[in-house]
Amino acid sequence: MFALVTTILMLTSTVSSAPKSPICDVTKDPDIKFVDIRLTKTKVPPILTSYVCQAQPIPLAMDVAYHAVAFEPIIENKDVVHHMLLFGCEKSVSEDPHACSGSDNVCRTFLVQWSMGIQGQICSHPDTGVRFGQDSLHSLSLQIHYNNAKLAAGLADSSGVRVYYTTRLRKYDAGNVQIGQNDLQIPPGVAAFPQYGFCSSDCTNKWLQQPIYLTRAHIHMHYVGDGGRLELVRNGQTVETIINDTTTFDYNNPPAHYFSDPVQVLPGDSLKVTCYYNTRDGGKYRNSTVYWDEGSSGEMCYAFITYFPRVPDFDQCIQFDVYDICSSHGGLVGGCSFGGFARSFKNILAESILSHCSLPSTNQNVSTSVVQQKADGLDLRILCSPSCEEAIQQMTGHPCMQNRVGSHMRRVYLAAVDSWQAVKVIIDTAAKHCAD
Ligand SMILES: *[C@@H]1O[C@H](CO)[C@@H](O)[C@H](O)[C@H]1NC(C)=O
Ligand SMILES: *[C@@H]1O[C@H](CO)[C@@H](O)[C@H](O)[C@H]1NC(C)=O
Ligand SMILES: *[C@@H]1O[C@H](CO)[C@@H](O)[C@H](O)[C@H]1NC(C)=O
Repeated sequence: MFALVTTILMLTSTVSSAPKSPICDVTKDPDIKFVDIRLTKTKVPPILTSYVCQAQPIPLAMDVAYHAVAFEPIIENKDVVHHMLLFGCEKSVSEDPHACSGSDNVCRTFLVQWSMGIQGQICSHPDTGVRFGQDSLHSLSLQIHYNNAKLAAGLADSSGVRVYYTTRLRKYDAGNVQIGQNDLQIPPGVAAFPQYGFCSSDCTNKWLQQPIYLTRAHIHMHYVGDGGRLELVRNGQTVETIINDTTTFDYNNPPAHYFSDPVQVLPGDSLKVTCYYNTRDGGKYRNSTVYWDEGSSGEMCYAFITYFPRVPDFDQCIQFDVYDICSSHGGLVGGCSFGGFARSFKNILAESILSHCSLPSTNQNVSTSVVQQKADGLDLRILCSPSCEEAIQQMTGHPCMQNRVGSHMRRVYLAAVDSWQAVKVIIDTAAKHCAD
């Protein structure tokens, strides 16, 4: 028995060099200490996808400056912890674990991203560390995405991150930036289907006052991802392929890339992420379109990048379709604020369309739902009246209803609002029957 185990271990250690379990050398230095940032024990909901967040003050003296130089995931439930993000903020925040979405987090400076399959510790470049403490981050916030495939009830979790730190500050503060595409549409039955996202030239011009240097990166996709690439583009030309996981991306073991010779990025350069998807073969087969989604049955296409010197608030440099979302962008995508428009639909636009476009209440027996009226036949004199046309135009003319922004708006936001079905019938019928 023992002999067998030894043989297997030996085979594993000689044959499989790919799934490394890196231990950061720095963690062996005697002056390096660690602090564990973990969720207070919390229930994992018995649903497929859930996000839990919790911010907490860093339990160290905050009048001292520190550099975090390595991170180590502490995973309590290996089967359900799908990915984890650690954010920091300067204020002192103390929260209980609570349900959250991928984007709402009181702390927004992102320190480290871990996803299922990333092995071992995550190391900083020797000249850098992530600063916290004095005049810097005072709280850390964990965001954990659970993928409870078996819908197991009664699971509890207190996963988190071990942060290795020192007071011997490194030469540079490290920063992290997320790059990629928030609008994905992958048809069924395709192979090597590409989607692209840029950290655009406009964004780097706006955010970078000087060159930055990339020290580490990995691509993040979900189950139908099978290849990824990260390129440095200068004056429209690819000048360096930084990551080429074209044939080597494996969701269960996404390769992490360290650049001991850091990659220089100049203001005005762009970074291009390409993700390849397969919805045709084997376990990746899908019979319907796969969209961007926070859940693991949806897809993502990001590169998580560590760089120095840190540019405060330069945390996200992504796109939605062709529109840049480069940090503090004010929440607008092509002139659209998804959440804001969904609220104005609920509060104003739906009511306006329903009241201007459907039967007036002279008929005592007016049906309560417009869907029923459609069955009775919408009254075309009302439907095609100037006031109905104007109400519809107020909605359909809005930037949130155009092109791919519009299809995302309808699919993700409006589909969840009760009155949308009735309004949709009116809009579609008017488009068909009312002459321009
Ligand atoms: C990336 O990898 C693929 C597959 O191994 C290879 O064909 C291609 O030439 C590589 N591209 C670059 C720029 O290295
Ligand atoms: C599509 O796939 C789902 C999930 O695998 C399955 O339940 C469904 O029957 C399939 N539909 C068709 C039309 O093949
Ligand atoms: C109201 O409509 C229903 C169904 O169309 C019909 O059966 C009923 O007689 C109507 N009532 C009046 C008061 O018109």
